[in-house]
Amino acid sequence: MNHRDTIFLEEAPVLDHRAWPGDQFVLRLEAPKCARAARPGQFVHLTVDPLLPLRRPISIQRVSPQEGWVELLYKVVGKGTALLAEKQPGDRVSLLGPVGRPFEVNHRRPLLIGGGVGMPPMVFLAEQLSAQGRADDLEPLVILGSEVPFPFEPQDSLLPVAGVPRDLVATHPLLESWGVPCRLASTRPMPGVFRGYVTDLARAWLEALEPEERKEVALFACGPHPMLEAVVALAREYDLPVQVSLEEFMACGVGGCAGCVVEVQTETGPAMQRVCVDGPVFDGYRVFA
Ligand SMILES: Cc1cc2nc3c(=O)[nH]c(=O)nc-3n(C[C@H](O)[C@H](O)[C@H](O)COP(=O)(O)OP(=O)(O)OC[C@H]3O[C@@H](n4cnc5c(N)ncnc54)[C@H](O)[C@@H]3O)c2cc1C
Ligand code: FES
Repeated sequence: MNHRDTIFLEEAPVLDHRAWPGDQFVLRLEAPKCARAARPGQFVHLTVDPLLPLRRPISIQRVSPQEGWVELLYKVVGKGTALLAEKQPGDRVSLLGPVGRPFEVNHRRPLLIGGGVGMPPMVFLAEQLSAQGRADDLEPLVILGSEVPFPFEPQDSLLPVAGVPRDLVATHPLLESWGVPCRLASTRPMPGVFRGYVTDLARAWLEALEPEERKEVALFACGPHPMLEAVVALAREYDLPVQVSLEEFMACGVGGCAGCVVEVQTETGPAMQRVCVDGPVFDGYRVFA
């Protein structure tokens, strides 16, 4: 796949910018070309300020091809994201995107697991699955984890999830409106939220499935490295396919500099691959061999 044919450069006006607790921000940018081409798992590469020529990669959380916007969720961790947080509606950001290899869903029961600022690709994938779900008879479940308040107002879900206690009903309101079952996890106490790791909650659901149903599950994950490692270990235990989205320091972001390589296992042995264009989505077993 030649990614360069589908990567656009747009001067994107800020349409909306909302702050959430824990230094988290949801940013909506007008970028119609990117919005039309983007797939879940892909990211945009942003110039946040003229003082910082190096772009910053941020995953795409939602798109509207009709209205021509892309939405991002990010956390302020350093200079670039702090400068981005200052942008006001009407300000412009140089956007390169969409970049990267997206998730590929070929199983009837996709289990989507997002941790922290790894939640955005899962929200994007959930929205896409809700659109194609009825036609393809899909039964997805989304599990989102956070150690700071969630960057949305959780609501009680009316959609049942096997294996999850009835009082743990907190969900993402957008996913609920799309009819996609979702549950939340945190090691900190939060009302209606599972107390523990996302993988503990995933295990409870897997155990509640019939063996035939479990064979239809595939895992998709984005989040901190230890979480991804735990998700791949869980997939290995149940012998299920797993795709993970990786984060790595990036320079060019379009495959030209080899600044973002990671070691993955291939049929012919270990190989260095670029997270920006060979990923960020990889087969989990190839990354955590
Ligand atoms: C494909 C991809 C998708 C991403 N999606 C999101 C997202 O949706 N939301 C979000 O908040 N962040 C996301 N990130 C991480 C984001 O790019 C970094 O947090 C950002 O570049 C930091 O820039 P900065 O100038 O604020 O911080 P810097 O001053 O550059 O660094 C501050 C701290 O962040 C760490 N850091 C910097 N860059 C990265 C990186 N690429 N990966 C891991 N740690 C890093 C540094 O080690 C340091 O501790 C993504 C990264 C990649 C590669
Ligand atoms: S950042 Fe340049 S090749 Fe990936």
